[in-house]
Amino acid sequence: MIDRVAIGRRFARVATDVAVRHPRLWRVFRPLMRKQFDALAHQWDSFRSEDTFAPYEAAIAALRDEPARIVDVGTGTGAGALALARRFPQAEIVGIDLSERMLEQARRNTPEDLQERVTFRRADASKLPFDDASFELASHANMIPFFDEVARVVAPGGHALFAFSSGADTPIYVATERLRDELETRGFTEFAEFDAGRGNALLARKRTAS
Ligand SMILES: C[S@@+](CC[C@H](N)C(=O)[O-])C[C@H]1O[C@@H](n2cnc3c(N)ncnc32)[C@H](O)[C@@H]1O
Repeated sequence: MIDRVAIGRRFARVATDVAVRHPRLWRVFRPLMRKQFDALAHQWDSFRSEDTFAPYEAAIAALRDEPARIVDVGTGTGAGALALARRFPQAEIVGIDLSERMLEQARRNTPEDLQERVTFRRADASKLPFDDASFELASHANMIPFFDEVARVVAPGGHALFAFSSGADTPIYVATERLRDELETRGFTEFAEFDAGRGNALLARKRTAS
């Protein structure tokens, strides 16, 4: 019998490794990735356990200042975006994702009192539809990083966050050393690492303009 879950996880890992090393090849994976998450959207929330967002929450708890504008990249059904909205009551948050089905679920998951501040938009993380320096925080939970775009949209002094719910066992996973190297070459200078639940996270601060 075909193990579709195992194939999906393997595909996500290969797509991540290739996109991180050769971002231009991402477009080869994009249609299948979108199809995969469109198909998973109706059950995605049922995969979540209590500690799935523990590394992500640990990293946002370490932020000293409330970010005014946040993009949650690869937001899926919006759990990360909603956690940010609850933690930062003034922040405006946009969650972006390739998969319209995931976004439909994210909108259904958003309580009425957060709908003004938390919005969802279809977009590709490799070509974000935002101006340079648009955000004080770009967050990623279990998401492939596109470093050039992260560095472009995060304002000087702002942060980028990368969390992986099951650490190195997460299908979409990038090792901390690799994240740090890629971010350092793009002007991120301060790093904080977190282990929480079964996973890990990295928070990086972009150099302030001087
Ligand atoms: C593993 S899921 C994580 C969803 C959510 N962040 C969470 O942790 O529950 C990865 C999500 O990223 C989206 N995604 C993958 N590549 C993307 C890209 N290049 N641009 C935007 N979204 C992308 C997928 O559609 C999927 O919803």
